[in-house]
Amino acid sequence: MSQVQNIQWFPGHMTKTKRKIQANLKLVDAVAEIIDARIPISSRNPDLDSIIQNKPRIILMNKCDMADKVQTGRWIEYYRKQNITAIPIDCKSGKGLNNFIPEVKKVLSEKIAQWEAKGMKNRSIHIMIVGIPNVGKSSFINKMAKKESAKVEDRPGVTRGNQWFSIGQGLELLDTPGVLWPKFDDPEVGEKLAFTGAVKDQVMDTELLAFRLLEVMSKYPTPQFIERFKLQDIDLDSTEPYELLEIIGRKRGMLMSGGVVLRVKGRALAVSKGGAFGQDFQG
Ligand code: G4P
Repeated sequence: MSQVQNIQWFPGHMTKTKRKIQANLKLVDAVAEIIDARIPISSRNPDLDSIIQNKPRIILMNKCDMADKVQTGRWIEYYRKQNITAIPIDCKSGKGLNNFIPEVKKVLSEKIAQWEAKGMKNRSIHIMIVGIPNVGKSSFINKMAKKESAKVEDRPGVTRGNQWFSIGQGLELLDTPGVLWPKFDDPEVGEKLAFTGAVKDQVMDTELLAFRLLEVMSKYPTPQFIERFKLQDIDLDSTEPYELLEIIGRKRGMLMSGGVVLRVKGRALAVSKGGAFGQDFQG
């Protein structure tokens, strides 16, 4: 295995978001934490536990269309054993979204009973949506709010700029910007977040990242991986990741001038006629 890049990304606006989440907690009845089903550990913000404390929580395992179904099922069971409701969703197709409102009502059933006992029969349920960047928060809100007129005006006493969305059946969602945490202690966490698009490209070496992704994927090749990159004729066990990157580049016709496929930190893998594999890139 080659070295994992040390990727870190915690711009100032995320500190502000963290504070805003904290400040707005009192306005909501529960928090829906959207995570990426492909990286169910790395996409969970470790700061969230201390931020949201005892507020009821529901986990939405999004992008489950791109994750292994069996593994997703095991995670849901894992959370169930910890008394946490987790549901698989796919905000591209809308799969699983119908379960959201009933599950929220289950999680809040005691509270709802208390409200009803106090005569508050039609009290709205307020849910804060949180998650890392690019995990699908907007997609989720857009899909859920589709049938409603969606945006709800800021209410008095609520921080200006808060976006509330009505999704029917008395539920309103509070949108929050994507937030990561100040330091990824495990560099593999940063790398997985980078693989799946939660980290801004500019803070890392994307070619090196592509190489590392291939290294990981070829260690655990799935039929989808083989199919996607047309690797049926490649012996992955005996192919180095750099070579694989070059093969994929060539298969996809991604050539720079001179027939060069790629460049990694000033070094390129030449594939022009007679060009030696791995030769230094000149200009
Ligand atoms: P964010 O608000 O949390 O930042 O995420 P956003 O909804 O913008 O989604 C980020 C990307 O993830 C979008 O792709 C979106 O389409 C995709 N996405 C969201 N949910 C799912 C899902 O369940 N499955 C799959 N496969 N993709 C999902 P994009 O390429 O940035 O935009 P677009 O071209 O799809 O609009």
